[in-house]
Amino acid sequence: MEATTSLLDTAAVGDLVLLDPLTEESLLRTLQERFHRSDIYTYIGNVVISVNPYRSLPIYTPEKVQEYHNCNFFAVKPHIYAIADDAYRSLRDRDRDQCILITGESGAGKTEASKLVMSYVAAVSSKGEEVDKVKEQLLQSNPVLEAFGNAKTIRNDNSSRFGKYMDVEFDFKGEPLGGVISNYLLEKSRIVRHVKGERNFHIFYQLLAGGSAQLLQQLKLRQDCRHYSYLNRESPNLPGMDDAANFRAMQDAMRVIGFSPAEVTALLEVTAVVLKLGNVELSSGYQASGMEACSIAESQELREICELIGLDPGTLEQALCSRTVKARDEMVLTTLTVPQGYYGRDALAKNIYSRLFDWLVNRINTSIQVKPGKQRKVMGVLDIYGFEIFQDNGFEQFIINYCNEKLQQIFILMTLKEEQEEYIREGIQWTPVEFFDNSIICDLIENSKGGILAMLDEECLRPGVVNEDTFLTKLNQLFATHKHYESRETQNARHIMDASLLPQCFRIHHYAGKVTYNVTGFIEKNNDLLFRDLSQAMWAARHTLLRSLFPEGDPQKASLKLPPTAGFQFKASVATLMKNLYSKNPNYIRCIKPNETKTAMLFTPELVLAQIRYLGLLENVRVRRAGYAFRQLYSPFLERYKMLGTRTWPRWAGSDRDGVEVLLAELAIPLEELAFGHTKIFIRSPSTLFDLEKRRQERVAQLATLIQKMFRGWRCRTQYQLMRKSQIIISAWFRGHAQKNRYKQMKRSALIIQTYARGWKVRRAYRRFFRSGARTCLANFIYRRLVQRFLVELRKNLPPLSVMDRTWPPAPYKFLNDANQELRSIFCRWKCKKYREQLTPQRRALLQAKLCASELFKDKKALYPKSLAQPFCGEYLGLAQNPRYQKLHAVAKDNLVMADTVRKVNKASGKTVPRLLLLTTERLVLAEPRAAQPKATLSLGDIHGASVTRFSDGFLALHLRETATGGTKGDLLLVSDHLIELVTRLHQALLEATARGLALHITDRFSTRGPKGDVAVTVVESDRAGGDGPVCKKRGNRRMEVLVH
Ligand SMILES: Nc1ncnc2c1ncn2[C@@H]1O[C@H](COP(=O)(O)OP(=O)(O)O)[C@@H](O)[C@H]1O
Ligand SMILES: [Mg+2]
Repeated sequence: MEATTSLLDTAAVGDLVLLDPLTEESLLRTLQERFHRSDIYTYIGNVVISVNPYRSLPIYTPEKVQEYHNCNFFAVKPHIYAIADDAYRSLRDRDRDQCILITGESGAGKTEASKLVMSYVAAVSSKGEEVDKVKEQLLQSNPVLEAFGNAKTIRNDNSSRFGKYMDVEFDFKGEPLGGVISNYLLEKSRIVRHVKGERNFHIFYQLLAGGSAQLLQQLKLRQDCRHYSYLNRESPNLPGMDDAANFRAMQDAMRVIGFSPAEVTALLEVTAVVLKLGNVELSSGYQASGMEACSIAESQELREICELIGLDPGTLEQALCSRTVKARDEMVLTTLTVPQGYYGRDALAKNIYSRLFDWLVNRINTSIQVKPGKQRKVMGVLDIYGFEIFQDNGFEQFIINYCNEKLQQIFILMTLKEEQEEYIREGIQWTPVEFFDNSIICDLIENSKGGILAMLDEECLRPGVVNEDTFLTKLNQLFATHKHYESRETQNARHIMDASLLPQCFRIHHYAGKVTYNVTGFIEKNNDLLFRDLSQAMWAARHTLLRSLFPEGDPQKASLKLPPTAGFQFKASVATLMKNLYSKNPNYIRCIKPNETKTAMLFTPELVLAQIRYLGLLENVRVRRAGYAFRQLYSPFLERYKMLGTRTWPRWAGSDRDGVEVLLAELAIPLEELAFGHTKIFIRSPSTLFDLEKRRQERVAQLATLIQKMFRGWRCRTQYQLMRKSQIIISAWFRGHAQKNRYKQMKRSALIIQTYARGWKVRRAYRRFFRSGARTCLANFIYRRLVQRFLVELRKNLPPLSVMDRTWPPAPYKFLNDANQELRSIFCRWKCKKYREQLTPQRRALLQAKLCASELFKDKKALYPKSLAQPFCGEYLGLAQNPRYQKLHAVAKDNLVMADTVRKVNKASGKTVPRLLLLTTERLVLAEPRAAQPKATLSLGDIHGASVTRFSDGFLALHLRETATGGTKGDLLLVSDHLIELVTRLHQALLEATARGLALHITDRFSTRGPKGDVAVTVVESDRAGGDGPVCKKRGNRRMEVLVH
């Protein structure tokens, strides 16, 4: 609410429309009062007046941006942001192209205002990587253009020396897409000359102060400004401006915009060339013909320039000091005088720089331009040089002021004239408000037949002697009676003495004051000629950028047609600009300069009053007060607001005008706020319009909610119905399936129960027909039959009766396996019994002996297997038959068990001697073969053991008791060919006689008792054993070795 009170503050109203009483003084006082309160912005309706504070105020913070974002124009304090916001919203929401016209004198704050508008729009438009890049490029175009196009003037330290119009283009969402910059008439005379206290363009100072030593060396520049004549050989001397920092900022900005390093270098090289051109000194001399001719005084600078641009110094020198003139179809080279030479040099420097500036603007445009094909809305921001009144005003001031005159004309046309005309056209009651229409001044300057510019062009093109005097005379004749034209001559004619009007001057009564122009230089500047030799020299350079700036230097394209004059070009571009501005919705920012000295917060009433007057602010307020803030055709108005009335929404059947009337009546808007024209509705105060807009917004929100509600309801309903249908189908299928399963199960159960019940019934019925135990009976019967059949089969298939035959048929059934085995062993035993029963007693005895031998030797002695095949004969000597053995036969009598030849081993020598051996049931007899007399007779009781080897030899040691007598000394060592039989029979005989068997040792090592003590016998397996038995070797007294194999 504080803001609204600020608008209504009686001492210093925020909107001058509310001023009461409305006079020049009250208006001035209000502005002054507000200025002292640091309220630099004031409205007249939707026009903003901005008074330059010359100090930074804390009103441009991000918080302020937020405060003004989507604000109500009339509910917040006047601010430039409010107008920017209003324009941006109108562009975005109402689809209307906008232009922001910033006018005011030089130093009034136009450039600052344009930057504030741009930064505000950038801050509130949407964000995103791509959008931010575009915004950044648009904003960064400022430092670059300011470096090359701004300079310090007496009025402004950062004065724009060119006009700038920037179209920022947006898409339908209000996002910036890019832009186009147009530049107008750079004040290029500043390159070669500027008054004391001012400076050349910033870039020169920035380059020298901020360029690194390496860069300066590369550009062949010296850091000291005082070295350069185009810089007036002065030091920069500008407090509060850091040229070096600005240079860095400018380089950064170029990078952001998209300049390549090579482009930047080329740009700076051309800049350096311009600066250095100023130092090319000329000196006069005389040619052989006696004509005065100029030449280069000192060639160092010229050489450096040529090195930079890749040109032969001779070419440039020739172009600077001479000129080719066409005389009767012949090209003649004429030399120039020193002033002519300097003129050419300066023209070259100015042309290079201004063309470079155009190139720069084009280069920026290629970076920021929008791709064709996109639909866009445009916001144009115009920051053009302000109205200028100097001590000495030349062609530039004339052009600048003409442009300002045109802008004022737009303002007048749009805010004063056209508005009033519209009221009358629409049949609205209206008391006309007087105002000054400056179209007469515009006409004075631009009229294509008799305007000042047309006259100037005529003079420039006229053959013959051309100078400014003839031009001025012409003007004096033409405008002798013009109210807004004065000169010494016209004043004289009117008998007015005016000492301030010099002879070579004319004066125009501009809307903003009287300005006296000195015609000197008008023709030259309008012609803006550059000697063809110079442009050709530039074209010949190898430097691509410089060369591209002088396309007319190409000898093949040389045309004799004169280029359009500067005035003509400017007029044309101003006309295009005006057309462009007319097509857009204007928003005004009128800047006021409060003092001449750039002092902070100093308000000079006289100065401001003058500006108030020429800006037509009072008239502006008057028209605004009497008029209507808003008008619109009935049809779009009804279309926009019809949702606010119950009768007009959603459709109105009658005429648009009736609809609007009904609607506004329903909204109860007071009648004095409204006027109904023939085709348009007029609304007096902006607050009413704002009220309407607010209601519309609320209503739109309601309608949107309604649409959303209906849509959501519909969506949920259809969704629900779909789900319900699906649910019914699913449950039907599921239930069917479950029921089918149940039925199947029940059916299966019923069948089972049925079969049990039937079985049970049948069994119960049939039970009486069966005997109990029939099953066992049947089974037993079957078993018996099977066994019977088995036994019968067996009897038929009995195996042979041979004892050696072990075969037996298998059991036909598993359960008969045990019985079958039993039968087999019975059969076997029976077979053996039968075999035994048919044996003779001798055979039986022999078999028993064999059995006994097997018990004694089987698997123990290697000789045993060999003995198996030999029958035990017992009697090998033939005692009964051989009469030699009569005696022995007598000894044996009937008790003979065995008679054989053995060899006895001599225990002392190991040698063997043959002996006859008789074994009877009681004794063992050894006899000499020849005598056949018993030599030793042993009772069987004397033998207590025997030892044999493991091998297949016949060695036997018989161990005798110590008590034994009978002719032996110690144990008997024998070798027998029938060892197995001998030992077996000895064992059997001992068993018979003493009931004790022979203690038989099968061993490799034993001891025998000899006559001289025990002898240890060792059995050794050796090849040395003879073929017919073991060999005994005596080893000392107590050891004997028996070699066997
Ligand atoms: N809104 C402002 N707040 C503070 N200082 C300002 C403001 N507008 C302008 N100035 C000061 O005035 C000087 C001149 O402003 P500028 O916009 O360059 O003038 P113009 O473009 O009208 O010639 C600026 O350099 C700045 O110091
Ligand atoms: Mg400016």
